[in-house]
Amino acid sequence: MTDTHKTKLSADAWDDAHFPRPAENDFDRVVDRALSRRGVLRGILALGSGAAVMGTGLLSARHALASTASRFPFAPIDPQTDFDIHLPAGYDWQVLARWGDALFSDAAGYAIADGGPIAGSDRVFGENTDGMEVFAFRGRQIIAINHEYANTDINLAAGQDGTPASAEDVLKLQNLQGVTIMEIAQRADGWAVVQDSPFNRRIHHNTPMRLSGPAAGHDLLKTQADPSGTDVLGTLNNCGSGVTPWGTYLTCEENFNGYFGANGDLPSDPVRAAGYTRYGIGADGWGYDYHKWDARFDVAVTPDEPHRHGWVVEIDPTDPSATPVKHTGLGRFKHENAEVVLARDGRVVVYMGDDERGEFLYKFVSNGVYVPGGTTEGLLDDGTLFAARFHDDGTGEWLALTPETTGMTLPEILIFSRLAGSAVGATTMDRPEWVAVNPHAVEAYCCLTNNTRRGTRPNAGGDETPVGGPNPRAENQYGQIVRWFPHDDNHAATGFDWDLYVMAGNPAVYSDAQAGSPNVTPGNMFNAPDGMAFDSTGLVWIQTDGDDSNTGDFAGQGNNQMLVGDPATGEIARFMTGPKGCEVTGLAWSSDRRTMFVGIQHPGGSWPDGDGLPRSSVIAVTRQDGGLIG
Ligand code: FEO
Ligand code: CA
Ligand code: CA
Repeated sequence: MTDTHKTKLSADAWDDAHFPRPAENDFDRVVDRALSRRGVLRGILALGSGAAVMGTGLLSARHALASTASRFPFAPIDPQTDFDIHLPAGYDWQVLARWGDALFSDAAGYAIADGGPIAGSDRVFGENTDGMEVFAFRGRQIIAINHEYANTDINLAAGQDGTPASAEDVLKLQNLQGVTIMEIAQRADGWAVVQDSPFNRRIHHNTPMRLSGPAAGHDLLKTQADPSGTDVLGTLNNCGSGVTPWGTYLTCEENFNGYFGANGDLPSDPVRAAGYTRYGIGADGWGYDYHKWDARFDVAVTPDEPHRHGWVVEIDPTDPSATPVKHTGLGRFKHENAEVVLARDGRVVVYMGDDERGEFLYKFVSNGVYVPGGTTEGLLDDGTLFAARFHDDGTGEWLALTPETTGMTLPEILIFSRLAGSAVGATTMDRPEWVAVNPHAVEAYCCLTNNTRRGTRPNAGGDETPVGGPNPRAENQYGQIVRWFPHDDNHAATGFDWDLYVMAGNPAVYSDAQAGSPNVTPGNMFNAPDGMAFDSTGLVWIQTDGDDSNTGDFAGQGNNQMLVGDPATGEIARFMTGPKGCEVTGLAWSSDRRTMFVGIQHPGGSWPDGDGLPRSSVIAVTRQDGGLIG
């Protein structure tokens, strides 16, 4: 989700107007901080001395990089600015599913006037596709896909200016977000949704679900409608995804705060008020106007409803009757994705970013161990939540969030994880988006998409955001990818080493730190890395959600795109460009690894149909020779 889709003047633009930029940073100071002891890239440093990437050595390092042998089985493509998808020669794409496609034959499906009728809007493919995962089950392919938010202007009747005018309007918006689970099949003419499959299911803003873990049942999670504090309706703003070793889907609630508003006073008691401030819950909301038609979203009436959202939700994609579970053990914040990996002893480790300027990077480590075929009950409930602290010397540590370290009770730590992270002095990050773990090495990567407030403003909790460590550029408009190497090759370890895999930038415009790291060239440049996943061969796929103006500081970068990186060499190549206006987000593979599913969120123009509204879609990418695609 971009920062800007709901507001006329974006938060970034408002900030820029009110907090003018300081003078340019000293280049050497910035790059010194970006280069860890391990180097921005071990591969690049192996090509020459560390000094070679500094100053005038920057270009020669780039040339040296370009001359290394590539693991990529395609010729990289140029940036594009049109309203289409582009892929390297030898690859094809088709639409798998688009906003409004009927999952059931009794649903009316898409209509150009307003996306489709309210009746059956909970039985069609939702809008604004995001994280996704494919599950093989009894010879079938089942895909779970998030629908992050709704563009109110195209989902409501023309003339309403995107403003709900009735409870029915709100219900329609609520229906079109959440998660789609559907069976898909590859037929002679390509991939298609299996309409009316018993696995097809829509989960939306009113779907019953259960809270579990140490905070479940806490007073801050109780409402008049649910005095138990365990029975919740709906999952909100489903952004990135994850998959457990036991075959369930994780959907992550990100900007849940935007759905809430107030037709009266906000709560004034210190605990709730502090939480509202830190999580950005206010009287106006972000324009969905749910609170004007649905009292559950009016925090003057139900002040604790927001505490029931902002979690990671587990869904069994193979059982359409299964109740989704919100795991309070994984903390409450603006969850991007949930990358699950096993520690050496079988404990379950979940890496999670909190996507807001100056917020933290988290991980959860279970108490119990995963045993294939054994019970998984409690594995995502009982454990310890940590927040990351990065040191400038290339080391870091995971700080346990416990009553002893934070002075908070365990339920409070989980419900207000941001406050707990502040209490222990975690590092304020440049908007942590997706985390991805390399399946062939004990290392993890996180996209830090950008942070135009770096070095100029504290986060919403008042924590300073100094320039340094893995956040080395003031008013960072391009973003970077940090990676860490857990000590003892164990994801459960509390110590790690870190470096920057890439600093995005524009070497066609700048020759200083704004040019990015040496593995960024005029031929592969991009901004705002966001979605990210490793394929089975150990290449890392990087999706962008950035400025696609193709002008000024972003000249030559074109539309949002998907690139692939080689962790060993640092090489990065552009594989796909999306239609102008879109964000490329969400990535999954068919079980035979011959198809890659890619999400195209909020495209511009009238892609992909060319004759109607722009329709957020998932596409299927294949090789013309039928070969493996990761
Ligand atoms: Fe939904 Fe931070 O992206
Ligand atoms: Ca994202
Ligand atoms: Ca983003």
